[in-house]
Amino acid sequence: MKSFVQKHQEITEVIWNRPENSSYFRIGLACSTVYENAHPGQFVTLHLPGNMTPLLRRPFSIHRLIKEKGQIIGIEILYKVVGGFTEKLTRTAPGDPIDLLGPIGNGFTISEKFQKVAFVGGGIGIAPLVFLADAISENSVCLSESFAFLGGRTSDDILRKSIFKSFALTIQITTDDGSEGEKGLVTRPLEKWITTTHPDMIYACGPMPMLRAVADIANKNKVPCELSIETIMACGLGACLGCAVNKTETTGKYQHVCIDGPVFDAKKLIF
Ligand SMILES: Cc1cc2nc3c(=O)[nH]c(=O)nc-3n(C[C@H](O)[C@H](O)[C@H](O)COP(=O)(O)OP(=O)(O)OC[C@H]3O[C@@H](n4cnc5c(N)ncnc54)[C@H](O)[C@@H]3O)c2cc1C
Ligand code: FES
Repeated sequence: MKSFVQKHQEITEVIWNRPENSSYFRIGLACSTVYENAHPGQFVTLHLPGNMTPLLRRPFSIHRLIKEKGQIIGIEILYKVVGGFTEKLTRTAPGDPIDLLGPIGNGFTISEKFQKVAFVGGGIGIAPLVFLADAISENSVCLSESFAFLGGRTSDDILRKSIFKSFALTIQITTDDGSEGEKGLVTRPLEKWITTTHPDMIYACGPMPMLRAVADIANKNKVPCELSIETIMACGLGACLGCAVNKTETTGKYQHVCIDGPVFDAKKLIF
């Protein structure tokens, strides 16, 4: 995965803010030209000016870039409404100010040699995978041999299907309650696919138990795999251990999702 140091803080504004369904929204935020170099997997942190609660900035993956006449004018965030900040975010309207810091973190590895990849997204975990698929297809790599495995608790958690369809890849959907696609965990069709195919890379983002299972499948089948980890973050500066993960090569020294991630090689993580 790639490392980037280019973050920039700006007070910018909401371009639009729309519900996807009762639990998920997408928001477009104006941004400066530093985002021309944003890489899939990177994230931003947000704060609503004038709001004391929550005090801490909240991290969100870059879901897509918003372009006008080939120029980047904004970024899109896909968010799930879970608490104080995300609830306030649903009430923001075009023109409202927003404090944006980013792009932060490393990103997924993209290579023209990767002709057959798997995107594995659990619920809101698909947020960074759409930017990734955009970048891969802009790199002139055809995704027709690739698969997107989208999992969720119910059909409401299966997001942005039409975008994935536009990449002409194969989509496999699973839900815990069977309300859409196959009933069960997203790792089941992934594991089945891997028995007949040797992909060049698996990219995954979602809840920790899903990432652990994806890492096991990838490591057992010797398939390269990168995981984007969305832990709870407090300081966002590597100071509080709130986002610590352990890496095999660190002999007990913790890595921080906020400064060493959010993307990690599945072979190097201890869950
Ligand atoms: C690198 C990174 C990228 C992220 N990208 C996205 C994204 O693209 N879209 C998105 O919707 N969310 C994303 N998240 C999670 C997002 O940051 C949290 O949902 C958000 O901070 C919640 O803020 P809140 O004030 O609304 O909720 P809070 O009041 O802070 O929390 C509400 C509840 O959600 C739980 N919670 C908070 N954060 C997380 C988390 N990361 N994982 C599991 N449970 C959590 C809390 O424990 C609490 O129970 C990302 C997190 C990280 C670290
Ligand atoms: S959030 Fe404090 S160390 Fe990462």
